[in-house]
Amino acid sequence: MIQIGRATLHRGEALSLIRTMPDESVDAIVTDPPYSSGGLHTGQRQRPPGVKYQNSDARRRHAEFHGDNRDQRSFTLWASLWIAECYRVAKAGASCMVFTDWRQLPAMTDAMQIGGWTWRGIVVWDKPSARPILGEFRRQCEYVVFGVKGRLMPAHRRCLPGVYRHSIIAHQKRRHMTEKPMPLIHDLLEVTPPGCTVLDPFMGSATTGAACLKTNRNFIGIELSPEYFQSACERLELVANPSTENS
Ligand SMILES: C[S@@+](CC[C@H](N)C(=O)[O-])C[C@H]1O[C@@H](n2cnc3c(N)ncnc32)[C@H](O)[C@@H]1O
Repeated sequence: MIQIGRATLHRGEALSLIRTMPDESVDAIVTDPPYSSGGLHTGQRQRPPGVKYQNSDARRRHAEFHGDNRDQRSFTLWASLWIAECYRVAKAGASCMVFTDWRQLPAMTDAMQIGGWTWRGIVVWDKPSARPILGEFRRQCEYVVFGVKGRLMPAHRRCLPGVYRHSIIAHQKRRHMTEKPMPLIHDLLEVTPPGCTVLDPFMGSATTGAACLKTNRNFIGIELSPEYFQSACERLELVANPSTENS
């Protein structure tokens, strides 16, 4: 375990580590698990993430990651297990926000409800630069499945939009091959109270963690890959102690 400012980081497997956390100890879950998407058939899904999610010219820039090759049934079962543990460690009134894509949206909404959460809706991430497809609709959106433990404790009296438009990060600038835009995470955190504790069991390069530290929230992050764990630590160190950037 590593402590960096308000962030507590664990290197290891999400489900087994969440199981060690106390009941009702976090205010929100914001996470971007492996989608196990990117193909209709087993052969396509079994391709490594670097082939599924990166342009050929961007390949080998980022480390591969595990857990992206489950079929629909095992993805739903696996997601139900960790999201149920997230439910246990969440306080009453906590919110849960989980990224997914169009293929896995039904599986993810099922898993969230199997895990005990009340499914309250979907936030749309509109990606204006999505690749056009001849004669078809662009796959221009990813989704954030939104659930609540019991009744949401409103953090304020504002009304938030349900669609956010943010460009994807250019491949050359990414720390992680599926890195989410920081402004999008800031938008999602709007539903959580200031000073709260946010858990991300699949933190990757810690975009959620960086957004939490920048907005004075506590962060608990878990990451399996040693390369991405290291990258997350370095990133959060710079956010927590900006003076070290040029030293
Ligand atoms: C989609 S990426 C998250 C990217 C992140 N949102 C970012 O902006 O950098 C999912 C991450 O989950 C990690 N992962 C996969 N299976 C895991 C597991 N069972 N436990 C913990 N981390 C896992 C992968 O190594 C990968 O870095």
